[in-house]
Amino acid sequence: MDHGRRAFLHLFVTLAAMIAWPQRPHADTPASSPDLVTRGAYLAKAADCAGCHTAAPVPGKPQPHPFAGGLPMGSPFGTIWSSNITPDTRYGIGRYSYEDFARALREGVAPGGKRLYPAMPYPSFSKIDDDDMRALYAYFMHGVEPVPQAAPKTRLPFPFNQRWALAFWSLAFSPTKPFVPDPNRDAQWNRGAYLVQSLGHCGACHTPRGPAYNELGYTESSGAYLAGGTNDHWHAPNLTGAAGAGLGRISAEDIAAFLRTGHGAGLATFGSMVQVVEDSTQYLDDRDLNAIASYLKALPAKGSGGTYDAQSPSARQSVAALRTGDDERPGAGLYLSTCARCHRSDGAGVAFKYPRLAGNPAVLSEKPDSLIRLVLQGGRPPSTGQGPEPKKMPAFADKLTDTEIARVLTFVRSAWGNDAVPVTTRDVKRMRDAVAPAVSH
Ligand code: HEC
Ligand code: HEC
Ligand code: HEC
Repeated sequence: MDHGRRAFLHLFVTLAAMIAWPQRPHADTPASSPDLVTRGAYLAKAADCAGCHTAAPVPGKPQPHPFAGGLPMGSPFGTIWSSNITPDTRYGIGRYSYEDFARALREGVAPGGKRLYPAMPYPSFSKIDDDDMRALYAYFMHGVEPVPQAAPKTRLPFPFNQRWALAFWSLAFSPTKPFVPDPNRDAQWNRGAYLVQSLGHCGACHTPRGPAYNELGYTESSGAYLAGGTNDHWHAPNLTGAAGAGLGRISAEDIAAFLRTGHGAGLATFGSMVQVVEDSTQYLDDRDLNAIASYLKALPAKGSGGTYDAQSPSARQSVAALRTGDDERPGAGLYLSTCARCHRSDGAGVAFKYPRLAGNPAVLSEKPDSLIRLVLQGGRPPSTGQGPEPKKMPAFADKLTDTEIARVLTFVRSAWGNDAVPVTTRDVKRMRDAVAPAVSH
């Protein structure tokens, strides 16, 4: 047998062994008490299971059933539809044993050996501890209404439709170790680390991904962890202590407030983070929010991005020139005529209404994707139990040309002491083609 065929045979046998991976024997379903179900409901919020497993509402149609699946998720390989995870025995997960449930969440393998796409964040969920896993199971079996409704099937083009191949992906990229508390850190830090790395799966958006869609790190020991990532054309900024584009200048109290209400330190949540706050973090108790904030604040500065210096001579000059309308930079005039009525000429915004742009870390991100997408499409901060009434940011896709958007954003990234790389017309055109193809300039 030549080398190539032997290698192929070896691959085939390895695969067959993986697919036939022995199912662990089903243990008895753990007893469930109302307390366990309530705790599971809280953990399901912390993990945002509903955010991905509930279809988007369609105007004029009945509200979609929670957890019945059918939310399309963009991936570089095509659209992946989320599954029905209600306890319906035919269309949902009603027949799952506790072991089936834990294996799907931690290893991305559904009963029958079906490998899940990592659009389901099982690399993070692999760190959920046993107590929490049991509470989640109790909730999904006893606290969620069964919905007899099939979720649409995911049909990716070859070779991405070969689910068995995901076994290699998992082996290569998905962590298998449970969360291990760090004895050198206090209980609050450890609680925050656990929530961020496991249930919160914050890295699924905030950690950059490699060529195989793998997150480049799952704990703070990796240089890339939470250093900023782009998914579905939203850039989730650097959450490390970086002073410009990271959380270095944002206090732990403000981070907790941002996660609870969508507002903190004059920033307003936008883009794909809006759903995270609405569906998940607004429901966390203060203890957990403070733990997350203190974990994030302890992350050493990593990654690159712009800088901010409110005292720089050019910063003072630009504020003065803008106030009098004398600023001659391209984009300054556009800013004054289209943006300043909300964000103000000094870029300070209006607390709880219009976010500040001066010194705003998201504005200083290395990648301007989120800013371009927001200016094209507009947006609104989350609507939460404790936050203010959300104000809208208008869409400018059919009001400004690509060059105008590039200029006004370049100006925003260089005014008032902000200093981040310029935005080009090409950047804007690429984003417009990707997210707003209907309107062209
Ligand atoms: C970021 C989005 C996302 C989040 C958050 C998420 N899921 Fe999923 N989940 C998915 C997608 C997408 C699939 C389908 C994957 C596929 O078809 O390969 C899936 C599949 C599953 C499956 C397999 C069902 C089957 O047999 O097809 C289970 C079970 C599951 N999720 C449970 C959960 C639970 C419980 C939570 C919360 C703890 C959760 N998921 C959070 C996206 C998500
Ligand atoms: C679905 C993707 C997604 C997930 C999951 C996600 N984020 Fe975000 N996050 C974003 C995006 C996009 C932004 C940029 C918009 C903004 O600043 O509101 C952001 C912004 C933030 C900011 C503000 C940063 C800044 O510089 O303004 C914080 C703090 C934050 N996220 C924390 C978290 C935490 C903690 C988690 C996990 C519990 C998390 N995020 C999960 C997408 C995500
Ligand atoms: C009518 C008021 C209004 C106008 C005009 C407006 N914005 Fe906004 N802007 C907002 C609101 C409200 C948000 C918060 C949006 C969200 O949370 O989704 C926002 C958010 C932003 C952000 C993200 C900052 C953050 O922390 O949320 C940027 C960048 C931004 N605007 C730039 C601009 C630019 C550039 C213009 C002019 C082309 C402009 N805005 C015009 C109201 C406005």
